[in-house]
Amino acid sequence: MTVNKPRILVARRIFPEVVERLRTHFEVQSNDEDVAWGAAELAERLADKDGALTTGSQRIDAQLLAACPRLKIVANMAVGYNNFDVDAMSEAGVVGTNTPDVLTETTADFGFALVLATARRMTEAEHYLRAGRWQHWSYDMFAGAEVHGSTLGILGMGRIGQAIARRGAHGFGMRVLYHNRSRLAPEVEAECRAAYVSKEDLLAQADHLVLVLPYTAESHHAIGAAELARMKPTATLVNIARGGIVDDAALARALKERRIAAAGLDVFEGEPSVHPGLLEVPNVVLTPHIASATVATRLAMASLAADNLIAFFKEGRALTPVPG
Ligand code: DGY
Repeated sequence: MTVNKPRILVARRIFPEVVERLRTHFEVQSNDEDVAWGAAELAERLADKDGALTTGSQRIDAQLLAACPRLKIVANMAVGYNNFDVDAMSEAGVVGTNTPDVLTETTADFGFALVLATARRMTEAEHYLRAGRWQHWSYDMFAGAEVHGSTLGILGMGRIGQAIARRGAHGFGMRVLYHNRSRLAPEVEAECRAAYVSKEDLLAQADHLVLVLPYTAESHHAIGAAELARMKPTATLVNIARGGIVDDAALARALKERRIAAAGLDVFEGEPSVHPGLLEVPNVVLTPHIASATVATRLAMASLAADNLIAFFKEGRALTPVPG
């Protein structure tokens, strides 16, 4: 008797060895080109599938789910899952999973790298050098802001926020302030050497503010013109969370008018498009959503997404389901 294997769609190009492992358990259709399918192409390919491995840029909403009656699970290769309409998925009985823990330290490393690069004007200085403009040493050439001993502000104090706090407090002797929906347990605050403050105080006191909160309807434009106006004119802002948390148009204006000193951005509203105002100003470090991009971490993320699909179909239980 032939038993039909569940059908899985791998929606973006990922590690071939992970796709091969999936093929030992499932009938797999994979996107092997380095191109993102549009919503209609995705729906067409998902229509006869039981599960999907996505990367965080494929929107899973009621319209798509209506076209995919067999779909039971979508495994995101990302810790963020704002591409999931979780209510529509719950209603359709589709489980969503993400990849927590495996990217925490790597993403925190990158967040801290952006704090340093932004405060110390590294990419601005590199562009100057590459353009052949370096003539001589000058006392104020690319003079930036101190990182060690300064005040690090963290908005969103989940796993990644805590990992950034530890780097700042233990590695750079920074005073760490944070704001979060709920206050951390005293022992976690002590371990991170982080103090809880209101959002207003965080904005007013941070020398370097890092955004690490999930993107939800409540956090949309959590940093807009009003919040930027509360920050110190010498402050820097780093966003490694999601575009949409920052009003990029307001940020571009604030950077141009030097209402804050600089920004480091790994995520953008409407990415891969970047607000033209951000491309015009020199005082911003821009990277293309690569905070978790080390070979080992991306492999761990892809493997956990695959493990979720395997556990779900073999054992009836996903390993890291997102709250429904
Ligand atoms: C995540 O895991 O949410 C990242 O943003 C995707 O790399």
